[in-house]
Amino acid sequence: MNSNYTILVVDDEDSVLKLLSAVLKREGYQVLCAESGGEALEKFNSVQPDLIIMDIRMSNMDGITALKEMRKTSRSITVILMTAYAAVETAVEAIKLGAFDYIIKPFDIEEVKLIVSRAIQLKKMTRKINVLNRQLLESYRLDKILTNSSKMQELCKTIAKIAQSNVSVLITGESGTGKELLANVVHYNSKRKNGPFIKINCGALSEGLLESELFGHEKGAFTGAIVQRSGRFEQANQGTIFLDEIGEISPNLQVKLLRVLQEREFERVGGNETIKTDIRVIAATNRNLEEMVSLGKFRQDLYYRLNVVCLEAPSLRERREDIELLADYFLQKYAEENNKDIIGFDQDAVKLLESYDWPGNVRELSNVVERAVIMSTGSIIFSEDLPDNLKVVKGNDLVSSFDLEIANGQTLKAKIKQMECMLIKEALQRNQGNRVKTAQELGMSRRSILYKIQEYEID
Ligand SMILES: Nc1ncnc2c1ncn2[C@@H]1O[C@H](COP(=O)(O)OP(=O)(O)OP(=O)(O)O)[C@@H](O)[C@H]1O
Ligand SMILES: [Mg+2]
Repeated sequence: MNSNYTILVVDDEDSVLKLLSAVLKREGYQVLCAESGGEALEKFNSVQPDLIIMDIRMSNMDGITALKEMRKTSRSITVILMTAYAAVETAVEAIKLGAFDYIIKPFDIEEVKLIVSRAIQLKKMTRKINVLNRQLLESYRLDKILTNSSKMQELCKTIAKIAQSNVSVLITGESGTGKELLANVVHYNSKRKNGPFIKINCGALSEGLLESELFGHEKGAFTGAIVQRSGRFEQANQGTIFLDEIGEISPNLQVKLLRVLQEREFERVGGNETIKTDIRVIAATNRNLEEMVSLGKFRQDLYYRLNVVCLEAPSLRERREDIELLADYFLQKYAEENNKDIIGFDQDAVKLLESYDWPGNVRELSNVVERAVIMSTGSIIFSEDLPDNLKVVKGNDLVSSFDLEIANGQTLKAKIKQMECMLIKEALQRNQGNRVKTAQELGMSRRSILYKIQEYEID
């Protein structure tokens, strides 16, 4: 809608003002006029037009001076300058000063319309990008991390402390715990938030491909390298690079990575030029890097470089207090996306969600809720709407004999847990509930039997 855009036309010649104003109004724009640079400045400050079309040579303050003044307060203004043919050098200077384009007088109306529409098009895109940027920053605000868990709250506090600095961050945690989300939160709460956030999955590419993805390559570096390409380290300049699944990189690349982390410089594959890059590094893994170091599979020096600050994303089982909160959040989200009027979960469904172990963590919860929303026909999600593999038998509803059959949809892990639970329960009964004795009998520590009793809710 052109009527959402205001154009300020500035010229000390009344006939030009009248003509342009009539043409632009016919195109649907809101039009304002000013007869001098001075008047233009006043209107610019009070109205903030989207586009200014301004003559260069005017008796009272000229267009170039006015443009310089305007740019002092607003870097993003869009100005089209008008000039007589003879003064084309001035117009070139105007472009250098940041004018969008210039029109040579006497002008062709069709050409003016075209230039204006290009400028407005750009404005529209800029507006859209600004909205998207704001949404992005908004969605990764720290207080947007939904949590009731003290572990997560501690994590958020740590992020608040370190986000603004440039320290390397290592994010660990099981699959689906939100490592990527945390990486985004760190970046969008840092000083680099307006710079790029570049993600690369180190586990998804072969060594050669990963190397050229990370460092870029020169033309002819290898078969198929027909043009020079910049790598992620270059693209991430002034921003953040997120190295996902860092535990998967080869020893050879570990060495190269170490150098970038230490020196903040590297060469493209097949190149000699040393390229400097200003980046913040965030790495994530669901592997135990410390163990990999002790097994000689991951370089210790690289580990220390990456692990300046470690964020351990807790599994969902370690923060069961978040299950209902997140489930409600996903329910609302997916109900909206699928145009469904679902208001919530019934109590049994919540119980079921809360007692399940969530090996796939938040991602699994999100998938389960999404599926339930899609399948549901009513306004409430019942436990029947949830998948069967959530229904692992708990300590108190056990049958006493073992059956080796795995129920439809039940995982091996769930079955083993079920059996473990039954064995512990039986041993406890045999020992009249004496936990120390039971632990001894089963060859477990007191701590781990207490943990199991809690986990399986055995009373
Ligand atoms: N606290 C949260 N609030 C809302 N959504 C979340 C939260 N934590 C995780 N998620 C969502 O769960 C999904 C998995 O998160 P993410 O991709 O960040 O996990 P990950 O740890 O990187 O997993 P993987 O190890 O498999 O790569 C995403 O869709 C993410 O948006
Ligand atoms: Mg991930």
